[in-house]
Amino acid sequence: MVGKICGTGSYVPPHVMDNDDLAKIVDTNDEWIRERTGIGKRHIIEEETTSYMAGQAALRAVEQSGIDPEEIDMILVATSSSETIFPCAACEVQRTIGATHAVGYDLNAACTGFVLAFNTAQAYISAGFCRTVMVIGADSMSTLIDWTDRGTCILFGDGAGAVILRAQDGNPVCMAAHSDGKKGPALTQLSRHRKGWENEQNKESYIHMDGQGVFKFAVRKVPEIIEEVLEKAELKLDDIDYFVLHQANRRIIEAAAKRLKVSMDRFPVNLEEYANTSAATVPILLDELNRDGRFREGQKIMLAGFGAGLTWAACLFEW
Ligand code: COA
Repeated sequence: MVGKICGTGSYVPPHVMDNDDLAKIVDTNDEWIRERTGIGKRHIIEEETTSYMAGQAALRAVEQSGIDPEEIDMILVATSSSETIFPCAACEVQRTIGATHAVGYDLNAACTGFVLAFNTAQAYISAGFCRTVMVIGADSMSTLIDWTDRGTCILFGDGAGAVILRAQDGNPVCMAAHSDGKKGPALTQLSRHRKGWENEQNKESYIHMDGQGVFKFAVRKVPEIIEEVLEKAELKLDDIDYFVLHQANRRIIEAAAKRLKVSMDRFPVNLEEYANTSAATVPILLDELNRDGRFREGQKIMLAGFGAGLTWAACLFEW
């Protein structure tokens, strides 16, 4: 069995902050941000929350798929910024969409979270444990960043994306996933729920990042894992219609495409509009491409994510 996408949805908050707005807060400018990252603006929550955005994306996916929410067996939400530790965001989504027969849980692997949740859902479907799974990536990165640190605050935005997978006869998808815990310090976000946190410098409670270290890691590991999945699938780069990568930085995507010697035409990018929404980038992009009518039945799509942990993962599936 294999999970086929039967509906997608996404939600971003209406409040927009462009690069000029950021230049009023930190010493930066539109030209620098665009040149180094490809980012033009980001959507930022006001009253919304991570699980609210996840619920809205899920409602849109349900509407598009035409399925009855009671058919959903499982809801997985990839997030590292839920407004509650518990109940998990997935149970909030269950309530929002009325998926009364589903089990829901969250999965945290930072920016790699959605691809790992997608792989997890595919594994449940292939094993015959589930038939219909909602997979969501949702993050409110604006609640984690230090708005006085120009090295990180320019990079991130808020949003959520969802896909619904339905079991169909067919070979399981090809996937791969890795972690390197030794490199964890390259990208960290300490929990505000740890013992003694209130005595520490407030700055400790925000994202810390070795930007160049993360950049180099992504540029090396993304092409590697794509090749690994292709080898398992016994396919070639030319067989892939779209490479849907985690949207962290346009230059990372361009460097990965160059290493693979694949034209950027097959690497869609939407960083200009949303910036890095962490676990939400891949499903938001999938939803955009789907609603634009870019996907055709039988096309081969490669997902690849990377991020804190450090973690990286990929999945090859057919539309
Ligand atoms: N605006 C203007 N100037 C800035 C700036 C900003 N927001 N941030 C840094 N600079 C300055 C630096 O101070 C430095 O100045 P100097 O040369 O006078 O010392 C110069 O720009 C270059 O800084 P550097 O850090 O070398 O830039 P970079 O080309 O590595 O780009 C990142 C920085 C963060 C954009 C880049 O490293 C990156 O995208 N890394 C990956 C991060 C990521 O994607 N993380 C999430 C992964 S899931």
